[in-house]
Amino acid sequence: MARIELKNVQKFFGALQVIKDMNLTIDDGEFVVMLGQSGCGKTTTLRAIAGLETVSSGEILIDGTAVQDKKAADRDIAFVFQSFSLYPHMTVYENIAFPLRAVGMSNAERDKAVEDVAGVLRISNLLKRRPSALSGGDMQRVAIGRALVRRPKALLMDEPIGALDAKLREEMRAEIKRLHIARGSTSVYVTHDQIEAMSLADRIVIMHDGVLQQIGAPEDVYLRPANLFVAQFVGSPVMNVADVTLVGDGGDVTVTVGGTDGGFAFPDHVLGNARTGAVVSLGIRPEAVLLSHEKADGYMEVASTNIEPLGSHDIVDVRLGSQVLRARTESGFVAGEGQTVWVTLDPAQAHFFDPTSGMSLRGPN
Ligand SMILES: Nc1ncnc2c1ncn2[C@@H]1O[C@H](COP(=O)(O)OP(=O)(O)O)[C@@H](O)[C@H]1O
Ligand SMILES: [Mg+2]
Repeated sequence: MARIELKNVQKFFGALQVIKDMNLTIDDGEFVVMLGQSGCGKTTTLRAIAGLETVSSGEILIDGTAVQDKKAADRDIAFVFQSFSLYPHMTVYENIAFPLRAVGMSNAERDKAVEDVAGVLRISNLLKRRPSALSGGDMQRVAIGRALVRRPKALLMDEPIGALDAKLREEMRAEIKRLHIARGSTSVYVTHDQIEAMSLADRIVIMHDGVLQQIGAPEDVYLRPANLFVAQFVGSPVMNVADVTLVGDGGDVTVTVGGTDGGFAFPDHVLGNARTGAVVSLGIRPEAVLLSHEKADGYMEVASTNIEPLGSHDIVDVRLGSQVLRARTESGFVAGEGQTVWVTLDPAQAHFFDPTSGMSLRGPN
């Protein structure tokens, strides 16, 4: 078990800076997921924590001790890679026991350590098999078992299930969560898959282009995105973003989308630090774009332009002036393209951003 801290960490590969002033504290026993697009610096950060990569400047602390100059072997951190390489000529037992060979355990102690970890991973019945006789999911269970058998201070996982098919990924996701609950080890998990991040993390670290964008619980990053990047990276379909004008002062403010005549009335307390008279970026998720079959107070008439039937629900595009907004509706709510519907926006689920910096204009609440 361990607390991991990164302080002002920078990493250059030649002239290319891939980690930009990273500050992060991972608490003892916490499950943190680093989420970001390919190339944003996730693997490099993880490798730096493990000691597989040096940092250019800054500090990495494990339980308060600076380790950035220590070798990987002296950090007691285990690493699971996406491309799990098991030793093909060894049995599952021998693969899991491999990290224990230098530890000087008795045979009985070693048997117990391997059986414990195999039990948690539900692969006790596979210990005599060779890797070639295992499914992809079981191979990855063995790779995780090998990482855990020494009871490391922390477990780092780099897209550990990215190579598996969708159904197996879902199963393994649940298992990794169960394993974390059973073992409680400090875990840092890297993925580009937001569903994986949302379902596993105590806290998500969102990265973009080497820069940490936001750290927060899954509901935090979803409900209170710090900037436009996070707002549009988390959530599917992506949050609608439209430049809007805000007119009015005190009480209700009119939010005009796509340059239409008139707009939607929002109580001014939802505006946060957004100022009336200005153009701001409105972010509104498809579930906060509300459609009606009938004309109603506060709704505007629109035509639906595209319908994506997704089984459990539909995504319907509607055009407001120059702006298309995507709405999430019940299946079959809009029968066909071109049908007239009425639309409104839920002010309680509206986000406002500075159109230049992209930073959230949320108030203190
Ligand atoms: N050993 C290396 N030498 C040079 N550039 C590297 C090296 N490793 C990674 N990079 C570059 O650093 C950036 C971040 O890579 P990486 O940390 O692997 O991102 P991610 O895991 O988020 O996809 C990428 O532009 C990548 O090409
Ligand atoms: Mg990577």
